[in-house]
Amino acid sequence: MNSSHLTAMLQQVYEHDPNYPALLQAQVSRYQEALTAFRLAFGPGPVYIYRAPGRVNLIGEHTDYNHGFVLPMALEKDILLLARPRTDGRVILRNIEPARFSERSFTLSASIRPGPVGDWANYVKGPAQALVRLLGIERGMDALVVGRVPFGVPIGAGLSSSSALTVVSAMALLDLNHGSMPPVEFAHFCAQAEWYVGTRGGVMDHFTSVLGRRGHALFLDCRPMGEPPTQYRTEWVPLPQQYSILVCDSGKRRANTLSDYNVRVAECKIGVALLQRRWPAVTHLRDVTPERMGFAPANLDAFLAEHLPEEADFAALRHLGLSPAFLESLAADHRLSPTQTFRVRARCRHVIRENQRVIDSAAALRVSDGRRFGGYMRESHQSLRDDYAASCAEVDALVELLAGRPEVLGARLTGAGWGGCVVALLEAGAGTGFMAELAERYRERTGLPLEWFAGRAAAGVNGWKHIAEL
Ligand code: GLA
Repeated sequence: MNSSHLTAMLQQVYEHDPNYPALLQAQVSRYQEALTAFRLAFGPGPVYIYRAPGRVNLIGEHTDYNHGFVLPMALEKDILLLARPRTDGRVILRNIEPARFSERSFTLSASIRPGPVGDWANYVKGPAQALVRLLGIERGMDALVVGRVPFGVPIGAGLSSSSALTVVSAMALLDLNHGSMPPVEFAHFCAQAEWYVGTRGGVMDHFTSVLGRRGHALFLDCRPMGEPPTQYRTEWVPLPQQYSILVCDSGKRRANTLSDYNVRVAECKIGVALLQRRWPAVTHLRDVTPERMGFAPANLDAFLAEHLPEEADFAALRHLGLSPAFLESLAADHRLSPTQTFRVRARCRHVIRENQRVIDSAAALRVSDGRRFGGYMRESHQSLRDDYAASCAEVDALVELLAGRPEVLGARLTGAGWGGCVVALLEAGAGTGFMAELAERYRERTGLPLEWFAGRAAAGVNGWKHIAEL
């Protein structure tokens, strides 16, 4: 392998990490091990390496699919895909952890049959099918996926391992078929391609993985603008050097996140449909602002109480005037149970307030005001816990323990929720020495082990590709 080229590529990603060059050495070994595994699986010859990072969202949760605002950053943790083009349309997928993710294969077509819900190959099938539909790609690949921790993105932790796999697969298949797309278009494409797996997720994860910048958070306005190719408003906000970001994994994983998530998306759409009766121009919760609807910001509760039910089932929603056709397609799109009840008012309150918090947080970050930023993080968590019901006892316990530390300016659930990670903002110069004791207390309370790492804003995909000869 031409390791000097690889080293140069890796340098771009890791040279600002305080553990560089030891980290660089560890990464080179990781890549070498992956190349050896690829050779064993598929034989000698040229191989392309692609990487896509996970992300941590600093603030702006469950706002993206409401055309709102988010403030995430890409992480150094990533997913690698080693690939070699095939002459036919087969895609052969192996994994560096075969006991956990056994081999899969499928043929490129405009209608690829998904595996069972949660199957790892679905995150490759989604972009593959979308690329066939969009560009008619025909060339498959032999591929090895490498996502093992600590360098990989942990699974189900709210750090977007699934979107990183979607992005890296899309990039590989596009590139091996001699295609290319401008970054924003590509991120938008990947977000839609992932709907294949059954979620109705937003664009945040893919945009961060594709557009991430070292040392910066991405302030993203998730409202698409204009006719295709769709554009988005993006701003890279430098992260002030004096603060640091800590990511703590609660160790809690919940099985039915996908259905909880879809119910939340549906609850937001119900809120919009109800408000549309009076304000037809409202297409997403992003449009619900004091200026537009004519209420004082302090009167949001009263406004919502007047226009949205606290709780409603399908019968009640029909009674409120929502059409059976709308409700049927909502139920089908989001795989809703006929007995589902919806807490419409509280869900909408979270999204409306969270949007404002993201705008305010970005402003705080621009002037390096970590204290103010930390305050918004605390509010965000309370809102996710109480209004959006997207937290859980373990994550709440972790946030509470972190909040009790003088080094911590703010802490909140990050990602979809119902388990996974907490992101915290640390005071200038604070180390993580206090974490060992905190982990002990966390284990006493929950019985779960706590893992943590320093969140460093890393570069996104940006055309990252390395070619090796085996
Ligand atoms: C998941 C989705 C994102 C976003 C978050 C919640 O990570 O993939 O699009 O909706 O949940 O903020």
